[in-house]
Amino acid sequence: MASINTAFKALCLSLLLVAVSSSPTTELKIFDVQSYGAKGDGTSDNAKAFTNAWKDACAWKGRSKVYVPKGAFYLGGVTFAGPCNCQTSFVIDGVLLAPTNNDDIKKETWVNFSYINYLTISGSGTIDGQGKESWPLNNCNTNDHCPRLAVSMGFDFVNNSRIEGITSLNSKAGHLNFFFVDNFTIAGVNITAPGDSPNTDGIKIGFSSNINISNTHIGTGDDCIAILSGNTNLFIYNVTCGPGHGISVGSLGKNKDEKNVEGLMVKDTVFTGTSDGIRIKTWESSATEIALSNFVYENIQMIDVQSPINIDQQYCPYPPCKKTGDSHVQIQNVTLNNIWGTSMNKEAPWIRIEWFKPKVTDKIRFSF
Ligand SMILES: *[C@@H]1O[C@H](CO)[C@@H](O)[C@H](O)[C@H]1NC(C)=O
Ligand SMILES: *[C@@H]1O[C@H](CO)[C@@H](O)[C@H](O)[C@H]1NC(C)=O
Ligand SMILES: *[C@@H]1O[C@H](CO)[C@@H](O)[C@H](O)[C@H]1NC(C)=O
Ligand SMILES: *[C@@H]1O[C@H](CO)[C@@H](O)[C@H](O)[C@H]1NC(C)=O
Ligand SMILES: *[C@@H]1O[C@H](CO)[C@@H](O)[C@H](O)[C@H]1NC(C)=O
Ligand SMILES: *[C@@H]1O[C@H](CO)[C@@H](O)[C@H](O)[C@H]1NC(C)=O
Ligand SMILES: *[C@@H]1O[C@H](CO)[C@@H](O)[C@H](O)[C@H]1NC(C)=O
Repeated sequence: MASINTAFKALCLSLLLVAVSSSPTTELKIFDVQSYGAKGDGTSDNAKAFTNAWKDACAWKGRSKVYVPKGAFYLGGVTFAGPCNCQTSFVIDGVLLAPTNNDDIKKETWVNFSYINYLTISGSGTIDGQGKESWPLNNCNTNDHCPRLAVSMGFDFVNNSRIEGITSLNSKAGHLNFFFVDNFTIAGVNITAPGDSPNTDGIKIGFSSNINISNTHIGTGDDCIAILSGNTNLFIYNVTCGPGHGISVGSLGKNKDEKNVEGLMVKDTVFTGTSDGIRIKTWESSATEIALSNFVYENIQMIDVQSPINIDQQYCPYPPCKKTGDSHVQIQNVTLNNIWGTSMNKEAPWIRIEWFKPKVTDKIRFSF
């Protein structure tokens, strides 16, 4: 990775130097979506204008910025793909409006950033997934042929990048999804959906490393943060979560080809009115042999949380639950330090730990 970064920087820098010698303007070049025909009237489809603005910004041989001014910009599914020539930023001061009908997105992810290095997304704007109409279609617990609803914003193979300031509102499925991402900062983001909206996870992370989430509020109808297979070195700091299902590692163990989760620090975080706070969930009859290790949860406040600490190695949200196999998911070296507050549910314990077999679990250290 380091050598790739160095090569990238060298390329970008040499391009800048070429720009210096061949033209007088070396500063940031702005690509305003309006100059590509985008209209902030809430109804025109702006997918083409946005894609064209992105293509030019990405190909620009110098620092570039795609700019979305104030206004309501309706757009169907879009992919902003790299590789780009230099550092690219995407500044959203307006509102991006998703189609209300999920079928009109025609993609797994509504706004998909992929194969990019050095991307910055920022601004005071909102990406509005307009999920309300789609939420009743989410009946996958009972219907095997349920529609697959779109995630609002996805990052696939995007490295050395950041998102800050943006609000993500009412996604159809998850809000922000990270897949094969390395060195990504999420700061000062606001993620909001009603507490009863199904499957509206705030931040989902898989196969990623060095992710830093800070100063962020997440209130949704599902996990605030879902940490899935194959992650290393995640840092979560000064996050407020609620409503929602807490900060969750898993579920894991159900599918083959899952990888370890190693190195998680959750610090200075407040859970308000969530079903769970700190949560680890693994399936009992696991298909993979993996380890979840080196987790630290520190300085965490619970306010009216139903199940503040819930480590469950017999996770099975709906029947049939096969309770015969061996769990091959080991949980190792988890530290819970300075966790306090109030719990909602008189029947549920403050700390619930369902080991599948004590043997497969290393050690958990508590200090309150
Ligand atoms: C995002 O776009 C890339 C490039 O077209 C594609 O390979 C990838 O599957 C898309 N990801 C999602 C989750 O839609
Ligand atoms: C980003 O990092 C991932 C994993 O470290 C790697 O697979 C991918 O090729 C990188 N993408 C870019 C655009 O450099
Ligand atoms: C991580 O990404 C940032 C840009 O967001 C960059 O400045 C920094 O050098 C990267 N760190 C590493 C270790 O590559
Ligand atoms: C987050 O955004 C929602 C919707 O725009 C707003 O109601 C709420 O006040 C915001 N919360 C924070 C903490 O900024
Ligand atoms: C995470 O990001 C925050 C805000 O940008 C910064 O203050 C903090 O030092 C970073 N932490 C790590 C471990 O990178
Ligand atoms: C924590 O995050 C909030 C935004 O959610 C911000 O207003 C506050 O300044 C942050 N606190 C610290 C200590 O960084
Ligand atoms: C346990 O996890 C902590 C925090 O990640 C780490 O510093 C420590 O080295 C780990 N201990 C072992 C024995 O792996």
